[in-house]
Amino acid sequence: MPEADVSIKEKSYFTDIPQQNELFFLKGSNNYDWGMKNRLARIFNPESGKTVMLAFDHGYFQGPTTGLERVDISILPLAPSADALMLTRGILRSIIPASTAKGVVMRASGGPSILKELSNENIAVDMEDALRMNVSAVAVQVFIGGEFETQSVHNLTRLVDAGMKVGMPVLGVTAVGKDMARDAKYMGLASRICAELGAAFVKTYYVPEDFDTVTAACPVPIVIAGGKKLPELEALTMAANAIQAGALGVDMGRNIFQSDAPVAMLQAVRKVVHEGMKPRIAFEYFESLKNEKK
Ligand code: R5P
Repeated sequence: MPEADVSIKEKSYFTDIPQQNELFFLKGSNNYDWGMKNRLARIFNPESGKTVMLAFDHGYFQGPTTGLERVDISILPLAPSADALMLTRGILRSIIPASTAKGVVMRASGGPSILKELSNENIAVDMEDALRMNVSAVAVQVFIGGEFETQSVHNLTRLVDAGMKVGMPVLGVTAVGKDMARDAKYMGLASRICAELGAAFVKTYYVPEDFDTVTAACPVPIVIAGGKKLPELEALTMAANAIQAGALGVDMGRNIFQSDAPVAMLQAVRKVVHEGMKPRIAFEYFESLKNEKK
């Protein structure tokens, strides 16, 4: 029977079933436009609500960091096990295959090297270029309490304004200066400022005391940076404690790519973040994967 002759009542209109109107899964993100949400869903796994980001953007201020001398050799084998890659546009264009389906979080601030005052950063990527590279978010460092605090906060707000026009989330990265106390009060201050000024998610360092107050007071997701290389069990314990305290993921670099067995470490971190595996069990899992390779 031709389509036009089918009775309207015989067709599948399900008039008794209201259309679903789901809330977006991510903390504080429900009021964004579709493109922004879609980008965030490329970073945070919609099933677990969490993310394991692999950070290897260190070269933007410290050059060939240990473990990142050859990103093509050390990092590309890890990429399939990460939810998102945090990198610079130089590495994205020169090394990362455009066929990747991973979320990409691209560093968009920079300027000074390790030889200079680090807080003196400017925006280092135009939003149009970020769009051209189809990245899932741009990241900007914010130096609360730093010498160039206001300048770095303006970098954040200018990127947020540009991002809002095109549906690009901004990750606010809290940089902790040498003179700052690494405690929940400082992390809470810096994270909350980033969120208040429009960051869609915030990266901060984990602190053992009262980290739940940092996540509670931040209205958007917090992911933790890994920091300097620790023994694997300690790094897994830090990730587990952060998730337990309300972090929605990790953005980990040195604790993965400087490990003796980086793929095994990344897989173990995934177990902790996405499945809530206890650190001791995750460490055993790491060891078993590491030994399989021998
Ligand atoms: C610092 O250079 C970058 O922002 C890194 O992405 C960040 O510090 C995370 O890397 P790591 O886990 O090595 O601290």
